Amino acid sequence: MVFKFNLHFSIVDIKIDELTYSVMGNQTFFPTKADSKMNRMNQSWKMGTLEIKNRLVRSATDEGFATPEGAPTQRLIDIDTELARGGVGLIIAGTAHISLEGKWGNNGIGMDHDNLIKPLKRLCKATQEAGGILAAQLLHCGATVNPATLSEREVLLGPSAMIDPLFGHPVEELTQDHILKIVDDYAMAASRAKKAGFDAVQIHSAHGYLINQFLSPSRNFRKDQYGGSLANRTRLLCQVYEAIRGAVGKDFPLFIKMSAYDGFPGGVEPYETAHTAAILDAMGIDAIEVSAGTPEGGKKGGWDHILPAPFEEGSLLKYALLIKEKVNCPVISVEGWRNPKKIEKTLEKIDAVSMSRPFIREPNLANRWFEGDLSPALCISCNKCLELQMDTGMACIFHDK
Ligand SMILES: Cc1cc2nc3c(=O)[nH]c(=O)nc-3n(C[C@H](O)[C@H](O)[C@H](O)COP(=O)(O)O)c2cc1C
Repeated sequence: MVFKFNLHFSIVDIKIDELTYSVMGNQTFFPTKADSKMNRMNQSWKMGTLEIKNRLVRSATDEGFATPEGAPTQRLIDIDTELARGGVGLIIAGTAHISLEGKWGNNGIGMDHDNLIKPLKRLCKATQEAGGILAAQLLHCGATVNPATLSEREVLLGPSAMIDPLFGHPVEELTQDHILKIVDDYAMAASRAKKAGFDAVQIHSAHGYLINQFLSPSRNFRKDQYGGSLANRTRLLCQVYEAIRGAVGKDFPLFIKMSAYDGFPGGVEPYETAHTAAILDAMGIDAIEVSAGTPEGGKKGGWDHILPAPFEEGSLLKYALLIKEKVNCPVISVEGWRNPKKIEKTLEKIDAVSMSRPFIREPNLANRWFEGDLSPALCISCNKCLELQMDTGMACIFHDK
């Protein structure tokens, strides 16, 4: 729509699509002030017992600034405190390994040893003092490792023995005893996260990592109670949920990130994920973040859960809505959210949206939008942040420019 005005040197506020635009003279106008009454983004919500001040979430982003043992460095603390000051409602820390064998790479935080509780306390305390709420994301990567660490791996672990389609390396089938040890490792890691002061724990069940591999008919050919039917493929996830819940208690916020689909024929399909989500909801999960894809399903030169531009705004929303129909707990939609006006509209249908790359470029994005500058996120989804994360540590080549 084009608007012309014959007004000079006066500012007029015009309301369109529930947002207020300021117009000066006959200049092209731009959105400035969000209408506070209609501002869903800035409404609080609850994830279990946890009150979150707004509906913008920083999706887990493995920054790559931990020591080789998994302790946060000052750089990581600075990143999270800057995000907290930037106003985002919930920060999900980059993925934390539950055991050494479950490490994705060499510079992520760890939750595999009691010695890490003290340094992680510093991260939690600093982030919370800066006004943030911080969740830990727990991961066993299974056979999906950082390619840079492949040569260091004695073995790749997965639900079934196979040649890994990503790396061409042999994958060893986990024994039942080993699976039970992994379930225990998740519980211990969650208990450490709680002791360190994290406000919530997220189970990483997306993006082709171990739990996702058990869910996937393309990776899981087991003949025992962990393979075959969807109920059996879901067993590891349900056991992990139960074990963590037992470790942290019923009132501690526990949520999950799921891939709606694997992204290749024979993989997990959205209707199966919706079914699994309904089971978790009935078991008491406090929220579900809906992503999609695996590195194996990568397309357009990138991973399909971290799409390089161009892509549709909020490209995975329809899968989040599919799950929303089946559950009572809050649902968070991730991937490709950039435009606050679209987010505002979307929040009529979904509880929260999460973003990763936009917060790397603009840690203060939430406050920028809440303060009335409603221009879209500056992130151009070039994925240089991802390349750098795998090399020297996450950074935006445009940040501070
Ligand atoms: C540098 C980088 C690191 C990431 N690390 C994680 C991670 O640790 N855990 C996770 O679940 N997703 C991770 N992701 C994926 C994001 O959480 C998110 O799902 C994805 O980037 C799509 O959201 P966006 O379009 O807002 O960036 C990472 C993405 C990037 C760019």
